[in-house]
Amino acid sequence: MKIIGFIASPRKEGNTAWIVNKILEGAKEEGAETQSWSISDLDIKPCQSCYGCRHGELGGQSDLRCIINDDMQKLYDALEHADALVLGSPVYMGQMSAQAKIFTDRLFATNHPRFSPQFKERNTAKKKLILVFDQGNPDSDMFQLYFDYTKNMFQLLEFDVKDVVVVAGMRNGPAHERKDLHTVLKDIGLSLVSERFPE
Ligand SMILES: Cc1cc2nc3c(=O)[nH]c(=O)nc-3n(C[C@H](O)[C@H](O)[C@H](O)COP(=O)(O)O)c2cc1C
Repeated sequence: MKIIGFIASPRKEGNTAWIVNKILEGAKEEGAETQSWSISDLDIKPCQSCYGCRHGELGGQSDLRCIINDDMQKLYDALEHADALVLGSPVYMGQMSAQAKIFTDRLFATNHPRFSPQFKERNTAKKKLILVFDQGNPDSDMFQLYFDYTKNMFQLLEFDVKDVVVVAGMRNGPAHERKDLHTVLKDIGLSLVSERFPE
């Protein structure tokens, strides 16, 4: 099983990176092949609403793909071969970070069946997704409506959302100092591989 982590925080050594990598560590220990990308390291432009992914750059049916030639093309390639994703974002102003939003908008191109022949083939099995949010506020229910909405949006994008992980209270200290999190996060990665998720 191939699992890719996407870290949508500008802080490379921050909470989001640590949390996503801990989940991947658990998955790797269970036999998964893992990889992670820091979205801030990449040049990813916002969706231009050109609908090239729907109608084709030249209006043809054979070239349906995102036509923006930037680093998102690397992520499309990675996504094609992935069985599962872990997308982590810090909560900024009660929502996902700008980096996460730009990445998510660009996924618009991928839910078209003709995004690429390989993607179409693999797309018959939905890709599993774990959404991860971390926030300063200690109340993990504070942004529940937004988390539910985001889960639903990813389901509409044809992802099989397995879990929404909310790590709260980051204003009291960095995630890696929270001893309780180590096992919990690794277990989430393990569950992603073993499919033992509570319904
Ligand atoms: C611009 C900005 C906006 C934020 N907005 C919120 C917020 O609305 N609610 C909250 O609980 N924490 C908020 N935070 C705190 C971050 O979500 C929290 O510190 C997070 O763990 C940072 O992740 P990182 O270490 O990966 O950068 C905000 C932080 C920044 C920089």
